[in-house]
Amino acid sequence: MDLKNGSIVTEFILVGFPGQWELQIFFFVTFSLVYGATVLGNVLILVTITFSSTLYSPMYFLLGNLSVLDMCLTTVTTPKMITVLLTEPKTISIGGCMAQMFFLHFFGGAEMTLLIAMAFDRYVAICKPLHYRTIMSRRLLNGLVILSWIIGFIHTMSQMVLTVNLPFCGPNVIDNIFCDLPLAIKLACIETYTLELFVISDSGLLSFTCFVLVLVSYTVLLVTVRRRSSGDLSKALSTLSAHITVVTLFFAPCVFIYAWPFDSFSGNKILSVFYTVITPLLNPIIYTLRNQKMQGAMRKLWFVRVSSAHN
Ligand SMILES: *[C@@H]1O[C@H](CO)[C@@H](O)[C@H](O)[C@H]1NC(C)=O
Repeated sequence: MDLKNGSIVTEFILVGFPGQWELQIFFFVTFSLVYGATVLGNVLILVTITFSSTLYSPMYFLLGNLSVLDMCLTTVTTPKMITVLLTEPKTISIGGCMAQMFFLHFFGGAEMTLLIAMAFDRYVAICKPLHYRTIMSRRLLNGLVILSWIIGFIHTMSQMVLTVNLPFCGPNVIDNIFCDLPLAIKLACIETYTLELFVISDSGLLSFTCFVLVLVSYTVLLVTVRRRSSGDLSKALSTLSAHITVVTLFFAPCVFIYAWPFDSFSGNKILSVFYTVITPLLNPIIYTLRNQKMQGAMRKLWFVRVSSAHN
């Protein structure tokens, strides 16, 4: 076979979490439950925001769209990860692997942009309350959502056009729970040093810059609020701490995974679980359990539905 002339590898092996079958079953049950709860929680948020009359505000508009992205992001990785746990051999086709990388970076890039938009929304709401409704117009909101999809698309395309035609002919084992660029690129049987650098600067720098940007904007916010009354501060703190938790749990793993200048390290899989499995579940938990307005809207919505069903 002529190795130079094309790929002979047609599928990759995902290592997943190695261990005995008891451990595989444990992960299978845990991740299935988490995935189910993620879809359920985000659908609940979407339904509540869409049908409730009390949640018509820019923040909830963005939050609803974040729920959509969260569901997409976790659906790209988790179902495949769950099935791979219980199958042997743990394979994924090259096409499936490419699709996974494409959509992971598509939805991931869009979610990063949307998280910045949400930080901007909080900034305007708290620092310019009188102009909030004028600045965060429907037009701007639609624009921000569309922009996030465009940025996600450009981000993923820029990396995938260079990845999709790579020849694979050697080892095909990916030591992760899903296909992702840093490890997949290394398996190509041509020199990929430049491409690796490109991915580090594209994905790594993007997540790092977004992370710093978001943290700075929340810091400015907190400082601004502190200058006012202490009542304002405690109220703002409870909203902002929710946002900051979500943002940190999403960005910090990305920064580590993509901007880490060394070869893969052992914490890689756990960090991958964080931003693709845990964070999408965290949003509904944080925004519903800690948000009185959301709880009120849900109760009202269910009460109306249930009582109209009885009539
Ligand atoms: C998300 O954004 C789209 C497009 O801007 C908008 O039509 C939709 O209502 C938003 N979703 C929610 C739940 O607000």
